[in-house]
Amino acid sequence: MQRVRKAVFPVAGLGTRFLPATKASPKEMLPIVDKPLIQYAVEEAMEAGITDMIFISSRTKRTVEDHFDKAYELETELAARGKDRDLELVQSIRPAGINFIYIRQAEALGLGHAVLCAQPVIGNEPFAVILADDLIDGSPAAMKQMVDQYEYYQCSVLGVQQVAPSETASYGIVDASPMADRVSRVNAIVEKPKPEDAPSNLGVVGRYILTPRIFHHIQHLKPGAGGELQLTDAIAALLKEQQVLAYDFDGTRYDCGSKLGYLQATVEYALKHSEVSEDFAAYLKKHVC
Ligand code: G1P
Repeated sequence: MQRVRKAVFPVAGLGTRFLPATKASPKEMLPIVDKPLIQYAVEEAMEAGITDMIFISSRTKRTVEDHFDKAYELETELAARGKDRDLELVQSIRPAGINFIYIRQAEALGLGHAVLCAQPVIGNEPFAVILADDLIDGSPAAMKQMVDQYEYYQCSVLGVQQVAPSETASYGIVDASPMADRVSRVNAIVEKPKPEDAPSNLGVVGRYILTPRIFHHIQHLKPGAGGELQLTDAIAALLKEQQVLAYDFDGTRYDCGSKLGYLQATVEYALKHSEVSEDFAAYLKKHVC
């Protein structure tokens, strides 16, 4: 069996839903309490046993690369000042044995195109795709749950959740037949259908494990919804020749590409954060409730 060792993080998007914050800095670097979204995503991949982190980046995303690089000045300074805890925190962002790989996507041609850019590094093995603005609080991590499913069924697995029927036009929506606990077989998938055209309200929420055959289907794509090369359309072609599963993972997902989802995640993660949880809960009680 081939293991899932590599994850693709498409980070070349424009982040227009979060302007002006995302004018000069990537949306993936927005922090939830004290950690950028992209770090949560990488940690989720690490928990799933993934060792190769492949970022599909663009001109304006230098800070993502810097975040996972060695910070010589900062680390030397922290060591000189005896700030061992901070030094450990900074160094833990890039643990030994984890590879960080960057590929530039010259033009934002869609999620399918972003994933295709990773093909030379992925080669002929299964891989994960993680969209960092979908933050998932799960234990075990959502991607770990999905890797377990992959290892059992040995086919592509999509992370799905029920979405509000009025919001189907924001998601890839699947038509699926139940197979086992939390697992269904995908019969069809449509990118961003209007509520009246949606086959269900089971939406794909930013987690995929795909077999390398997906690259063949992306290469043959025509522009889809929004004029972009859609990963969803390639998955629709893939499932005509291979089994694709939808996995309703156990966890809470926050749409951190939207202001409301971002604020909800911030509150929930702050209420669990070792440094601020008590004071923040007291603050909320006093000023909000
Ligand atoms: C992308 C995918 C969509 C998926 C969504 C999850 O859309 O194209 O199928 O449901 O991510 O967040 P985007 O949110 O990038 O428009």
